[in-house]
Amino acid sequence: MNVLVFASSPNKDGLTEECAQAAAEGIRSAGASAEIVYLNDEDIGSCQACGRGWGTCRDEHYCQVDDGFQAVHEKAGQADGYVVVNPVYFGQLSESAKACFDRLRRCEATRGDESALGGKPAIGVAAAGGSGGGIVSCLDEMSRLFAHLRCSVFDMITVTQKTRAYKPAAIREAAAAMAASLSEE
Ligand SMILES: Cc1cc2nc3c(=O)[nH]c(=O)nc-3n(C[C@H](O)[C@H](O)[C@H](O)COP(=O)(O)O)c2cc1C
Repeated sequence: MNVLVFASSPNKDGLTEECAQAAAEGIRSAGASAEIVYLNDEDIGSCQACGRGWGTCRDEHYCQVDDGFQAVHEKAGQADGYVVVNPVYFGQLSESAKACFDRLRRCEATRGDESALGGKPAIGVAAAGGSGGGIVSCLDEMSRLFAHLRCSVFDMITVTQKTRAYKPAAIREAAAAMAASLSEE
């Protein structure tokens, strides 16, 4: 079993990284493999809304923009589960997460129940390192994303500066439980 951990902060020494590492540890502790995908390193540009709004994503379920997205798309389809760890930016997903997931959603939501991510479990983590404001709207955005991708929500977790001391342990446990549930299937 292989679980992808998406980390969408440019920083490798901050709150997002701490949460992503906690998730990876939990997954591995349950005997599954974990790969952290650093979306800021993947050279993924924005959707170009080609074809008057719907391009190859709608009918052929691939994105015609040829960049780092293609490899991430393939990897996502092959994975058994997902943890999305996102730093809260303006109460929303960060730019690298938006760029990747907007395109992934177009390609896979248009398959309906045949989505390559369909039925696979997912955990969302909103890491709000500032005031903590906007954490709920960020989780709501992730919740809509998971619904469009037909993922099965396993948990949705918030982390702020005030909860940073104990939430990584919760992320670790949640990721371990999700990975364990995969091998029970
Ligand atoms: C452009 C930008 C917008 C941000 N907006 C929010 C916000 O709405 N709420 C919040 O609590 N923190 C906000 N922050 C702080 C980030 O959530 C914080 O930098 C992030 O959790 C830290 O993650 P990192 O250490 O992995 O970079 C913002 C940061 C940036 C750079």
